[in-house]
Amino acid sequence: MRIGILGSGLMGGKLGTIFARAGHDVVFSYARTKGRLEKLARDAGGRARAGTPAEAAKDADALLLAVHWSRVDDVLKKAGDLTGKVIVSCSLPMNADDTGLVIANTSSGSEEVAKKVPKAHVISAFNTVPSEVLFSVFERKGKGTPLSVVYCGDNAKAKKVAAQLISDVGFEPIDAGPLRIARYTEPFTLLVGQLAYEGDRGPAMAYRFEWFEER
Ligand SMILES: NC(=O)c1ccc[n+]([C@@H]2O[C@H](COP(=O)([O-])OP(=O)(O)OC[C@H]3O[C@@H](n4cnc5c(N)ncnc54)[C@H](OP(=O)(O)O)[C@@H]3O)[C@@H](O)[C@H]2O)c1
Repeated sequence: MRIGILGSGLMGGKLGTIFARAGHDVVFSYARTKGRLEKLARDAGGRARAGTPAEAAKDADALLLAVHWSRVDDVLKKAGDLTGKVIVSCSLPMNADDTGLVIANTSSGSEEVAKKVPKAHVISAFNTVPSEVLFSVFERKGKGTPLSVVYCGDNAKAKKVAAQLISDVGFEPIDAGPLRIARYTEPFTLLVGQLAYEGDRGPAMAYRFEWFEER
């Protein structure tokens, strides 16, 4: 697939590199220096290249939205017409100092992005994953039980694209339902982050839903 990266920092840089190594045609865009984008493209290898958000969006089969919430409007404006595009968003609606969500409960960042670009197909994915684990998940792809990543969205074709990208990284994609489910997955990310980054050593988290049948 042709994948445009809108925001090439911790998430966009790593996921874009992994997508390129998985065989996709990647354009890195939106960093403060062009040199950073060029270095990312060189290090990623394959057909990865640096470009503007508009170049990343042009002909893209999927776009990864990976900017701070405060930059969403700016990058979407720079990307131009996104009619019909699949936008996989890992951007969380965080406040300026990243201490809390500015949207929760009755909406989500992903739903607000969908309202900003109503003619695109927004999928919420990867936002429950700390960027630190991405490379090791990719390196261990196909070995052992995969970690799960939930995704949600309202367009079936776009969801297939997101599921493909999630498994390309090495995760098991879990379809959590419509885009409004992001109201629950986005706050969940803060819990994961809190546990992962607080203290000397975060706990290894495992969760499993069991069916309890009435006997
Ligand atoms: N990091 C995680 O583990 C994680 C996990 C889940 C979700 N998320 C979410 O993913 C999104 C991206 O997070 P991140 O950690 O990848 O952020 P980040 O490392 O700060 O990356 C943001 C990107 O936007 C670029 N940028 C910022 N201001 C800009 C400007 N004025 N002009 C042009 N480019 C600009 C940055 O450029 P530079 O490269 O030049 O700094 C960087 O490439 C956020 O919404 C975050 O909440 C992050």
